Amino acid sequence: MSSSEQENPAAEAGDGKYDLTPEGGISRRGFVGSMGLAALGLACAIPAAMSFRSVIPNVLYEPPQRFKVGPLERFTEGGVFISEHRLFVFREGETMHCIGAVCSHLGCTVQLAKIPEADGGFEFHCPCHGSMFRADGTNFAGPAPRPLDYYMLEIAADDGQLIVDKSRPADKLWRLTVRS
Ligand code: FES
Repeated sequence: MSSSEQENPAAEAGDGKYDLTPEGGISRRGFVGSMGLAALGLACAIPAAMSFRSVIPNVLYEPPQRFKVGPLERFTEGGVFISEHRLFVFREGETMHCIGAVCSHLGCTVQLAKIPEADGGFEFHCPCHGSMFRADGTNFAGPAPRPLDYYMLEIAADDGQLIVDKSRPADKLWRLTVRS
């Protein structure tokens, strides 16, 4: 037995090559090969994933801007706050209008504050940074840069419910006329 065979007891008998594989393990050559295959797989998978993602449209699913808010009987004289849509619907006799409750500063929800001496008997106050709006939505105090939004109202043809259309801004003098 040569001295090299003595230093490598795992020497293979038949073809004269050495088997450096630890018992039950993987050879160095096998390990390097596996790593190469893994790298190749990764190199193929990343562009494939990116091209798959590119066929999926970038769609933002926003809530509908036009929706029913209830039968006309829900809206008696005065204002009704509809929290899920963050808006007020006001009825004055046979006319109705809708004012958004989203503060024009940073989007907090304004609250209706009854103030007898105020024009209209109430104002809108923002709890976040103190902006104030008159009953017609005009900003007059605090950091709010513009008035509250107005939205169009209509009556549903199928069931007579009131519809708010937030996709259609309204002038602050616009009113929906209803017959009671
Ligand atoms: S969010 Fe209303 S005052 Fe700032």
